[in-house]
Amino acid sequence: MENANTEKKIILSGIQPTGTFTLGNYLGAVRNWQKMQEDYNCYYFIADLHSLTIHIDPAQRKKQTLEAFALLLACGIDPEKSLIFVQSHVRSHAEMGWLMSCCSQFGELSRMTQFKDKSSKHPENINAGLFTYPALMAGDILLYQADYVPVGADQTQHLEFTRDIATRFNHNYGENFKLPEGYFPKAGARVMSLQDPTSKMSKSDTNPKATISILDEENVILKKFKSAVTDSEAKVCYREDKPGVSNLMVIYSAITGKNMADIETEFAGKGYGDFKVAVGQTVADELKPIRERYKDLMNNRKALEALMKSGAEKAEYIARKTLTKTQKKLGLLPASR
Ligand code: TYM
Repeated sequence: MENANTEKKIILSGIQPTGTFTLGNYLGAVRNWQKMQEDYNCYYFIADLHSLTIHIDPAQRKKQTLEAFALLLACGIDPEKSLIFVQSHVRSHAEMGWLMSCCSQFGELSRMTQFKDKSSKHPENINAGLFTYPALMAGDILLYQADYVPVGADQTQHLEFTRDIATRFNHNYGENFKLPEGYFPKAGARVMSLQDPTSKMSKSDTNPKATISILDEENVILKKFKSAVTDSEAKVCYREDKPGVSNLMVIYSAITGKNMADIETEFAGKGYGDFKVAVGQTVADELKPIRERYKDLMNNRKALEALMKSGAEKAEYIARKTLTKTQKKLGLLPASR
């Protein structure tokens, strides 16, 4: 990081510490984060402030945040190349989140599908943070003047919102924010549940068979793929009316790099049984080294905490520059120091 090339474009992304990452998080986001480290200045963080919008036992949240940080490292995010930190350790995020909330309209926040989804699933906890979540996320991105934001397809609307808010701010107060672009993987941007392939694979799914966790053991992975919901045609092909098989093909394609036509040829005349074993084995082989690295990392908590500390310090230094500029543009009186 010390020698980061300032000519390189800036990448920023985050993930919530709400449970072990799923195969969806991995294929839709984190795997690409790792690949981008050579060509971009990358900033990646654990979005613990965002996770406050849902109820998690505090002890569990603490544990999951540490685990999520270790998981990023285990997935190949290298602190020598990328800046990695925990969102709440960098105070500028909460401060910028408030400024962005005040630039967000009730109407536009009401249209966010994630807000509608989450509030209908959890009517007992429709907190204000859930509603203003996109403003905090916009602040995360704009603080670092990010060029690209690699995310899965479910975050598209939040990115559009970020661009809208940045455009409006620049227009009202003078040029301040770079307009970020989404960066979606060609394959794996939307990995669906193995039990209900019309909804996305999610950490919060209550059915454990629906979700592959990136720390699942090989036998568990194979078993979950074996019981994945498909259809009765027994033909491996990618079609809208075959969401189960198509989802398995997306997963297989994302890991092997093979396209849909090649996969159809490879499994022509074979039943779903063979295909499911092949997909399961490919996933298990991909995740095995991550699981092993993760175990080693969790055995050295001191080293993890030291990395968190240095990441947060560097991030705060960068973020504060934009925060100060933004406060000035809004007419906040600078504090005398
Ligand atoms: P989160 O924690 O829900 O998910 C992290 C990343 O994983 C992607 N993802 C998926 N991709 C493909 N298929 C799936 N089934 C799947 N499930 C999740 C998500 O698109 C995401 O890229 N709001 C964000 C966190 C965040 C953030 C940010 C991201 C906070 N601030 C600033 C980018 C920039 C979230 O809840 O991600």
